[in-house]
Amino acid sequence: MSRPELQAPPEIYYGDAEAKKYTNNSRIQQIQADMTCRALELLNLPPDEPAILLDIGCGSGLSGEILEEQGHLWVGVDVSPSMLEVALEREVEGDLFLQDIGQGLGFRAGSFDGAISISVIQWLLNAETSHPTSSPPHRLMRFFTTLHAALKNPSRAVLQFYPTSDDQVQLITSTAQRAGFGGGVVVDYPNSNKARKVFLCLVIGGEGGAQQIPKGLEVDGAEAGSQARFERGRERQHKRDKSGKRKSIKIKEWILKKKELYRRRGKEGVPEDSKYTGRKRKAFF
Ligand SMILES: C[S@@+](CC[C@H](N)C(=O)[O-])C[C@H]1O[C@@H](n2cnc3c(N)ncnc32)[C@H](O)[C@@H]1O
Repeated sequence: MSRPELQAPPEIYYGDAEAKKYTNNSRIQQIQADMTCRALELLNLPPDEPAILLDIGCGSGLSGEILEEQGHLWVGVDVSPSMLEVALEREVEGDLFLQDIGQGLGFRAGSFDGAISISVIQWLLNAETSHPTSSPPHRLMRFFTTLHAALKNPSRAVLQFYPTSDDQVQLITSTAQRAGFGGGVVVDYPNSNKARKVFLCLVIGGEGGAQQIPKGLEVDGAEAGSQARFERGRERQHKRDKSGKRKSIKIKEWILKKKELYRRRGKEGVPEDSKYTGRKRKAFF
């Protein structure tokens, strides 16, 4: 069976039935969660600070759930109404936007502390129509320039994707560079057909404009895959209380970030910050 992006446009491929099937598949849940944890690691955010993150091609919110568990706020964009419908049914905490990223992102400059994207940008390599401005290079350029604008300086975006050739990697990295990003590609488990994963780590600013890009993981794929899951499982357990319920992460800083996000979006009636912010949660949420 050929890759999904070769079969139909994303909003058609991820119709109602496929969106539900995808989301309920426990193997997919596991793989997407592992890749999200790795993307977060590569984002290298300041420890113990909630961030406002963009999830590009958020689908039904599988990655968003991990972002929430790690204490971050997130905004998701996706072109498939059915995927977003499932995300709504799952009552994810992120704000969701129906948007084709190949048309460019419509956020205010400097809105996000970072961005992730899991298994999405290979879809931009297929022309949507025969019109010249819908060619992959045009769509990639619109996506990367508007992503660059939407991110703070300094910050990072980590995009895991499935290339089928070196030419595709070259097209994607060179377009991101022309849009103003630094950074490069990190390949985890390059020698394992099964565990090999490609992450585009894009960097804006940083000390002297040179943030260090980490190395890919190298150990045996099968072993490494189970170790990553084990580590993540342990981390996630810590985020739950004894009864297995999620521990509350709505600390003062989280609330301040959420207020900041709403103010930037121009929402009216956001209460002033006070010395009580974070204690009287009901006042705002
Ligand atoms: C394999 S799913 C991954 C979903 C989610 N990131 C996850 O990890 O579960 C690919 C997603 O990319 C979205 N997508 C593909 N092309 C897109 C585009 N041009 N604009 C926005 N979303 C797109 C699809 O609708 C789909 O939800």
